[in-house]
Amino acid sequence: MKSSNSQFHPLARLLHWLIAAMVISMLFIGVGMVASVSERHEWLIHLHKPLGIAILVLMVIRVAFRLTHRPPPLPEDLPSLQRRAAHFSHWLLYALLLTMPIVGWAMLSAGGYPVMLSESVRLPSIVPANEVAFAYLRAAHTYLAYLLFMTFIAHMSAALSHRFIRRDNVLASMTGRSPDA
Ligand code: HEM
Ligand code: HEM
Repeated sequence: MKSSNSQFHPLARLLHWLIAAMVISMLFIGVGMVASVSERHEWLIHLHKPLGIAILVLMVIRVAFRLTHRPPPLPEDLPSLQRRAAHFSHWLLYALLLTMPIVGWAMLSAGGYPVMLSESVRLPSIVPANEVAFAYLRAAHTYLAYLLFMTFIAHMSAALSHRFIRRDNVLASMTGRSPDA
């Protein structure tokens, strides 16, 4: 594993902010898709599927990169409970970002729906069609989205409290600004 300095590698920072923007968009697109029972917003669904699969592809690259590149250390004076909370929430975010798209893909497969990324690109089914599996996966997609949203809010709050309350270098390590700027 390569050693690190006080900042995340530029590729890790690029992937972090790109995926963050995509995930926040996906949460709003998902809610927009199911917000109305009378009107179907087909264009949102056409956007949701390829964007979700793109997140999965980028996450595979990100995890491979993360396993070979050590992140910058957290501040030495950070209490051990906060240190453990940071590691746990990062681990949870990685797990959710890999699981959410796979559950979405599996859910459509179980429902017997074609998983179309565009008019001509169709992904293979990853589970056999089964009504009961569809019902579980559909519910799982919703509950995992709630968990992802709550974890994201906690994560963003922690990042801002590092910047404005503790005034340490944690946010700068991910934005690429020089420390204490
Ligand atoms: C990080 C990735 C993803 C996130 C954050 C996400 C988020 C969401 C959210 C918030 C909803 C609304 C949930 C509800 O209230 O029931 C939703 C619904 C849905 N998602 Fe995803 N999703 C992701 C990936 C995917 C993928 C990859 C697919 C399919 C290939 C997919 C297919 C669907 C479908 C079909 C619905 C339900 C639409 C409906 O009932 O009309 N999602 N998603
Ligand atoms: C849905 C959106 C987001 C997701 C999924 C996400 C995900 C992650 C993950 C998985 C890590 C761990 C990186 C690693 O150790 O390899 C991380 C680190 C970090 N994120 Fe986010 N993030 C999001 C949004 C944000 C936002 C909005 C901010 C700032 C306001 C932020 C600030 C940071 C910082 C400062 C770190 C470095 C923490 C450290 O050094 O331990 N993130 N993020």
